[in-house]
Amino acid sequence: MNLQEGMLTRHSVRGFKDTPVSKELLIDVLRLGTTAVSALNSQPWEFVVLTGELKDKIANANVECFMSGAEEDLQDPVLTGRQRQGMVGVGKQLLTAMDIKREDKEGRIWWSQRGYKFFDAPAVILICMDKACDEVYHRIDIGALCQNIALAAHSYGLGTCVELQAVSYQKGVREYLPQHADKNFIIGIAIGYPDENFPANSVVSARDDVEELTTWYGFDE
Ligand SMILES: Cc1cc2nc3c(=O)[nH]c(=O)nc-3n(C[C@H](O)[C@H](O)[C@H](O)COP(=O)(O)O)c2cc1C
Repeated sequence: MNLQEGMLTRHSVRGFKDTPVSKELLIDVLRLGTTAVSALNSQPWEFVVLTGELKDKIANANVECFMSGAEEDLQDPVLTGRQRQGMVGVGKQLLTAMDIKREDKEGRIWWSQRGYKFFDAPAVILICMDKACDEVYHRIDIGALCQNIALAAHSYGLGTCVELQAVSYQKGVREYLPQHADKNFIIGIAIGYPDENFPANSVVSARDDVEELTTWYGFDE
C-alpha cells in the first residue's frame, strides 16, 4: 500500500475481530506513529497500551459512568455551522449502517456504550502527556501522532478508531492506572483487526471540497 492509497482508504473502525494484536506489532505501529511532527521536536506523547483484564476493567468503569448519567470530564465542544454538519453527517451514516432509528433510545445507548468500552477492540492505546505539558500547545502534536498511528496500523491491516470516549470519563483510568497519576490522559485509540461484517465499518465519512475551504492568492493573475 503506498502512502496515498493508505490515506485514501483509512476509515475509522468500530467493530473488531477477537484476534489479539501482538505486542511486537503494536511496537512497530507506535514507532511509525512517533515519526509524527511535533513542535520543537518536543514529542510530548507517552503511551499506556492495554489488553485483557485491565482494559476490560477500565472499559466497564467508563460504561458505568455513562450509565449513571455522570458528566464527562472531557467533553466534545458544542459545534456549529460547517463543523456541525460534518458531525451530524457521520452520526447519521453510522446509525443508519447500524440500523438504529432516531427514536430508538436503547439502540443509541447501546451504540454509545460501545465507544466507552473501546468498541470491544482487543487493545487500546491511551495517549498521555506529563501534566506539566501545555495541553493546548501540544494538541497539534497529539493530533499528528494519532493520524500517523492510524495510518501505520492501516498499513498492517489493522483498524483504529481515535476516540475521546476512551478517556472522557477519567474515573477508570485514575482508579486502575494510579502509577500514571502525573500524566494527563488526552485521547485513546481502539486498535485491532477489523470485522469486515460489522456494518459501521463500511461507513465512509464525507469531506468538504478543498476548493470551498481555500482562499488562493497570486495563482490566477
Ligand atoms: C479527536 C478525535 C476524537 C474522536 N472521538 C471519537 C469518539 O469518541 N467516538 C467515535 O466513535 N469516533 C471518534 N472519533 C472518530 C471521528 O468520528 C472520525 O475520525 C470522523 O468521523 C472521520 O471519519 P473517518 O475517521 O472514518 O475518516 C474521533 C476522532 C478524533 C480526531
